Amino acid sequence: MIIIVDFGGQTAHLISRRLRDLGVSTHLIEPENALSEIEKVKPQGLIFSGGPASVYEKNSPTIDKKVFSLNIPMLDICYGLQLRSHLLGGKVKPGTKEYGPVKIKLVKQDSKITKGLPKTLTVWMSHGDSVLSIPKNFTIVGSSENVRYAFVTDEKNKKYGVQFHPEVEHTEFGNQILDNFISICGIKKINHTIDPKTIIQDIKQKVGNAYVIGAVSGGVDSTVAGTLVAKAIGKQFIPVFVNNGLMRDDAELTVTTAFKPLRIKPVVVHVEPEMLRKLKGITDSEKKRKAIGNFYVEVFEREMKRLVLKNQAVKFLLQGTIYSDVIESKGTKHASKIKSHHNVGGLPKEMKLQLLEPLRELYKDEVRVLGRKIGLPENIVMKQPFPGPGYAIRIRGEVTADRLSKERQADKIVIKELEKAGWLPKVFISFPVMTDAHSTAVKGDGRFFGEVVALRIIESKDIMTTTWSRLEYDLLQVISSRIVNEVPGISRVVYDITTKPPATMEWE
Ligand code: XMP
Repeated sequence: MIIIVDFGGQTAHLISRRLRDLGVSTHLIEPENALSEIEKVKPQGLIFSGGPASVYEKNSPTIDKKVFSLNIPMLDICYGLQLRSHLLGGKVKPGTKEYGPVKIKLVKQDSKITKGLPKTLTVWMSHGDSVLSIPKNFTIVGSSENVRYAFVTDEKNKKYGVQFHPEVEHTEFGNQILDNFISICGIKKINHTIDPKTIIQDIKQKVGNAYVIGAVSGGVDSTVAGTLVAKAIGKQFIPVFVNNGLMRDDAELTVTTAFKPLRIKPVVVHVEPEMLRKLKGITDSEKKRKAIGNFYVEVFEREMKRLVLKNQAVKFLLQGTIYSDVIESKGTKHASKIKSHHNVGGLPKEMKLQLLEPLRELYKDEVRVLGRKIGLPENIVMKQPFPGPGYAIRIRGEVTADRLSKERQADKIVIKELEKAGWLPKVFISFPVMTDAHSTAVKGDGRFFGEVVALRIIESKDIMTTTWSRLEYDLLQVISSRIVNEVPGISRVVYDITTKPPATMEWE
């Protein structure tokens, strides 16, 4: 097994997921008690993750430096490499910032860690600091234009360091690097596929004779989670769909049709006007999330009380939380909070039901595979993710009925045109953003100052990294023309060509 020391990087857990896919068991630990944990577990390899802090800052996460000298193969990623350098006589300073794709050139290809790699490869970086000098014994294997120590090794002691992130989907040959490291550790691989039967069994055991209310949204995650629970406990499961008016139009239909084969009829609660009243005057994105999350729980508690009056055995609340929701809501000790995902950060403490989150450790693509395994149709399994707070976080500034209706109209145009052009199955997520920026247009000889819509159309598998879809110009033109012509008050359409990192998928 390999121990991963988690310095709070957004992709620390993703390292363990990649290793799991490659057939290796992992154990994620915090740096504070790393030495004793390593001595106890005796792993065959150690990986140090990235993290948001700077090694030279007060209170940044650190580690007993003896760990770095243990006689175990080690792979330092980003902050991990910076910390080794900082503690063992190298130097780290604020350097050229690199976020997203960067080309690196390998100067040495005879290392065991570079086996099977080409001379140049595109890797994904996400750092503001750089290593200026490395500890002795290390040599450079690869550099980018801006970063000398992008890939370093100490062959004799089986220590390796990368400034980039081999664990993210968009780093070329990332899996190969991890696989090479596994071979260096001498680990025998075993199959770690996710088995729905085990998850269903766990749910059965946890829930017993109790009843579960399921927060379902019509999205992939909650539909997969709900179906697993329905398979485990049958009619003890009560799916509830809160229609707050911020979801896509097809959400309610998905909910009602998905559970039909299991003979379960979801409870549908309509709170559209109430939701808009709660959002009145709110412009700050975190406040919006909290308002939506709190209202959602309020409605649930209302519904729960009603259902519990009918049935005293309701004890659990099911949510389709997946790992990317957890990590962006500061899911680990040293992670930064990116945004409060409404199904993680926005739940008030006094919530009375116990949470049931069977997908909490999984990534989107794993949830899709699981969905297929339990027999969900392809149109549900491949559905675009849609954020819990819905259209509200795609409307910069205040959410009014009028702006919501424009967003909805523009969204339908984008989906329709992508579908017509055969692009829909290829994109991970697509949406217009009401930017709250305004610009001049001339419509029918008259000057008009209207809102700018930005298009975000991106490709990804696991949400952690994304790149923008290279749509044909003609298709972009059709979408742009339709939006400015058909949606009232829109003056301009722009295309967002930013990768994640640094930009998140949603604008808020
Ligand atoms: P970001 O914008 O963080 O999005 O790159 C990653 C994925 O999460 C969705 N998202 C949310 N989902 N509550 C949710 O349930 C939220 O507050 C939230 N914010 C973003 C986003 O749509 C994408 O699929």
